[in-house]
Amino acid sequence: MKITTIILAAGKGTRMRSDLPKILHKVAGKPLLQHVYDVSRQLENNAIKIVYGHGAEQVRTAFVELDADWVEQTQQLGTGHAVQQAESYITDEDTVLILYGDVPLIRLATLKSLISNVSDQTLALLTVNLQNPAGYGRIVRDDQQAVSRIVEEKDATLEQKQINEVNTGIMAVKGARLKKWLSQLQNGNAQGEYYLTDIIEMAVRDGLLVVTSQPETEEEVLGVNNREQLSQLERAYQFEQAKMLMERGVTLKDPYRFDNRGLLEALGQDIEIDINVILEGRNSIGNRVKIGPNTVIKNARIEDGVEIFANCVIEDTVIGANSRIGPFARLRPETVLAQDVHIGNFVELKKSTVGIGSKINHLSYVGDTTVGSKVNIGAGTITCNYDGANKFQTIIEDGAFIGSDTQLVAPVKVGKNATIGAGSTITRDSPENKLTLSRAKQVTVEGWQRPVKQEK
Ligand code: UD1
Ligand code: CA
Repeated sequence: MKITTIILAAGKGTRMRSDLPKILHKVAGKPLLQHVYDVSRQLENNAIKIVYGHGAEQVRTAFVELDADWVEQTQQLGTGHAVQQAESYITDEDTVLILYGDVPLIRLATLKSLISNVSDQTLALLTVNLQNPAGYGRIVRDDQQAVSRIVEEKDATLEQKQINEVNTGIMAVKGARLKKWLSQLQNGNAQGEYYLTDIIEMAVRDGLLVVTSQPETEEEVLGVNNREQLSQLERAYQFEQAKMLMERGVTLKDPYRFDNRGLLEALGQDIEIDINVILEGRNSIGNRVKIGPNTVIKNARIEDGVEIFANCVIEDTVIGANSRIGPFARLRPETVLAQDVHIGNFVELKKSTVGIGSKINHLSYVGDTTVGSKVNIGAGTITCNYDGANKFQTIIEDGAFIGSDTQLVAPVKVGKNATIGAGSTITRDSPENKLTLSRAKQVTVEGWQRPVKQEK
């Protein structure tokens, strides 16, 4: 069976009050339309068509990489009109699935079961019962409880407005049928629009059965019309993420204060995550990892037994097993730490590798550096890697000891087991096994008097 998915995404989203087209707003760091695309992409043998209109240029630029055909709807004359724009892509035998670009949390399982209800004699419709159905199209059923039509809120009688079962807008039907009905749509309704929902009545008239199914959760079919709904869907999405983590053996101190805005590629067991932790990009987290509060982690591989204390910012980094990071550490891109490394407070690393068991515990900047194993870098050490034009490398070999408040002016090398005296500015390579220091001699000035303030 071949599926053609048509994603309706031309609407303006006036109530977002934004310069950004609505479908570019994000849930979990990902544009609304991308969520819909990603789910439908998982359906086999599926060709995706996107009907776009508002913010056309911005939309096309943002999604150049999507494997989809784009159909421009220059005037938004209704959902039926939107589908008409994609008509040339519909072949008779296709199962056509209609999705909305601003309904991001729809699940694959829901779509699969909807599609399984499609045949030459049926139209599959996703409906939901809402406590407050205001604004939605209502599902009108006959005496036998069969769906007979959908009536839009603005066209509904008072009695019809009492109906709680509403149209989610998501439906599926065979291509030949759809094309026939599309050509018959009229806009003689309260909004003067070509309603896609009118095809329900046409299907019934042609002797088809409208088979309804419901999503597992209401959030799946909620659309975004304003910022409040955007935030509600963000929280719904994040709570689902939190539940998934807990099911897989992660302790979350508060599932309502956890955000995963990316992809977890691997996840160990007995991980503990404190409050306000944000994961972005692609992360993998090993067994028994502990992550303290207020930490942001992006594109990291964190191996077994690592402990990250409060308030760290970590990006494009590998942290070897049993290492300890923070509090208040910043690990910038291309940092690779071997196992048992200690990175302490107010330490920043960038584009550096650190060998097994090395320690950089306090107030240091280490950039463009190769640090060997069992190295101790004292408080306030700075690798001066930048001369204002170019970056240079620092090499610190195994077992070296760098005294506090040292500047290593790159390019420079500190040899194996070398010791650098505190307060040094090191501009030349320092030999193995020796003490190197650069320090003005300490003097004491005899007879010196501290100035005193004159009393008036
Ligand atoms: C539509 C349904 C309504 C349903 C509701 C669910 C119709 C006539 N009504 O109403 O039964 O309960 O969705 O949310 O279908 N769009 C276009 N081009 C257009 C018009 C809309 O691409 O010309 C897109 C919008 O960007 C949006 C979707 O279609 O993604 C739905 O449009 P919207 O205006 O929100 O439809 P509703 O009036 O809410
Ligand atoms: Ca809507």
